Amino acid sequence: MESNASRPWLEAMGITIWQRRSPPAGAGASNAPPDAGDWGRLEAEVRGCTRCALHAGRTQTVFGVGSHSAQWCFVGEAPGAEEDRRGEPFVGRAGRLLDAMLAALGLERREVFIANVLKCRPPGNRDPQPSEVASCLPFLRAQIAAVRPRIIVALGRFAAQALLTTDQPLGRLRGAIHEYEGIPMVVTYHPAYLLRRPADKAAAWADLKRAREVATHE
Ligand code: URA
Repeated sequence: MESNASRPWLEAMGITIWQRRSPPAGAGASNAPPDAGDWGRLEAEVRGCTRCALHAGRTQTVFGVGSHSAQWCFVGEAPGAEEDRRGEPFVGRAGRLLDAMLAALGLERREVFIANVLKCRPPGNRDPQPSEVASCLPFLRAQIAAVRPRIIVALGRFAAQALLTTDQPLGRLRGAIHEYEGIPMVVTYHPAYLLRRPADKAAAWADLKRAREVATHE
């Protein structure tokens, strides 16, 4: 059974499946945290970045949030308007659904690591351009290398395609356990898509349960 704490969040996700086979991965032993100096330098580099034109339109960069020794890493696409204003990923409507997804897994935002492929907001929330992804991806790669999570969850096709260096569509990438630099990776729908297509929440929950199996059994 899912814990009682998960119940309201599963309901928010539109999920009525209660089977739980193992404790949440976020609650176990952690790996060594990255050196605080290195992390601070990376954060400062992102804050001052002018590698692509998006820097001109940003209010601030959106570096990432959560534990530097997290077992779970969630990767989204790019900051939206609210994230650009607040400097934190996934704080708008899609972020509230992501919080529900985390809670359904028995996880809190502060114990996972959440970041985007792009650290600056694309104008009008347009899709990231390949040149922007190429400029910004090294930051995400450095973050993942420092955190060294047990599982990466790619939220939507941009995160999945960028990390796996593929142009395969989301439909082909979901349902498998991929590997990014030796770290297992599961691909699921972006929360913003799930807000538009709630019928796919059950499939997203199946993806997250697959990720939990990997995180707890690897
Ligand atoms: N969508 C994303 O991909 N990332 C955010 O931080 C917010 C919305």
